[in-house]
Amino acid sequence: MKIAVLPGDGIGPEIIKQAVKVLKAFGLENILEYAPIGGAGFEAFKDPLPKSTLELAIAADAVLLGAVGHWKYDKLPRDMRPERGLLRIRQSLNLFANLRPAIMFSELIHASSLKAEVVSGLDILIVRELTGDIYFGEPRGIVTNQKNEREGINTMRYSESEIKRIAHVAFKTALKRSKKLCSVDKANVLETTELWREVFIETGKEYPEVELSHMYVDNAAMQLVKNPKQFDVIVTGNIFGDILSDQASMLTGSIGMLPSASLDANNKGMYEPSHGSAPDIAGQDKANPLATILSLAMMFKYTFNDQEKFNLIENAVKSVLREGFRTEDISSEGTNLIGCEEMGDKVIERLEI
Ligand code: IPM
Ligand code: MG
Repeated sequence: MKIAVLPGDGIGPEIIKQAVKVLKAFGLENILEYAPIGGAGFEAFKDPLPKSTLELAIAADAVLLGAVGHWKYDKLPRDMRPERGLLRIRQSLNLFANLRPAIMFSELIHASSLKAEVVSGLDILIVRELTGDIYFGEPRGIVTNQKNEREGINTMRYSESEIKRIAHVAFKTALKRSKKLCSVDKANVLETTELWREVFIETGKEYPEVELSHMYVDNAAMQLVKNPKQFDVIVTGNIFGDILSDQASMLTGSIGMLPSASLDANNKGMYEPSHGSAPDIAGQDKANPLATILSLAMMFKYTFNDQEKFNLIENAVKSVLREGFRTEDISSEGTNLIGCEEMGDKVIERLEI
């Protein structure tokens, strides 16, 4: 067993450190190998996804990633920017299925900007296709057009097989939950997603137990705020999933709580918090490490088939929250404000191993 650890930029290293403490508590520190990605990759090797990092990730059974990005790299050529490293590793490892849960921990109900009754008990799973769509479609670029003005081009495209494989993941995921699947598209305007809808309907015939519904993305954005508990599993393409998963995360109060898993066809996965690198608070011991720690829990569940460690970690996180410990992003009156390091320590203390 080998885990590639890619701390990345901004708060990446400090949140990863806390997840690594959990791995140490399980006696698993010997299976970790570190490598730079994003801005850190650029600093070390002039490449946001250095060859050695990719090779390590390919050889590993799973990848644990912090976050990438820093505004100081915004002026670099596009291929050298930190985000490119992330997109390339997703594509190179074929991590087409991105699972992003949005779960309301009852202890954090007051951290949500929505009314408690709207979000209490919320438990949504967004399945986001991660290696296709307008993110990767060609042609793309900024060109000079025939009128001699600059024109930006991106291409939304999905092949039938790409839609089918994410559909199977989504239906199988729904089977393990409440058997309700909502596919989000823009089939009234975009042909790409008209095909998406057709392929979902066809694939759905293989899963008669799952109740499949369809929703346009604009309506889904509205329904997520109006009545989020109508959803269980949502499946959508790359760009809509990017946007809706940020929105869904805020229903739960803080994006600092939410983990994610990006899986290939064999459940090899890359695990990372759903939030970004937050360079504004990097190095100040303010970041919330719980999304990263919960991402590690997902690694045990999905890649290593170890539901027990998943439960141990999740229960430890819940205990810490129940006892009132909070990082700044989730703190409210009457709670106990602590830093990133201490939050990591608290989780270890509550791990019942
Ligand atoms: C995410 C992020 C990335 C994305 C960026 C950093 C490239 O927003 O993981 O949601 O757009 O996929
Ligand atoms: Mg995003």
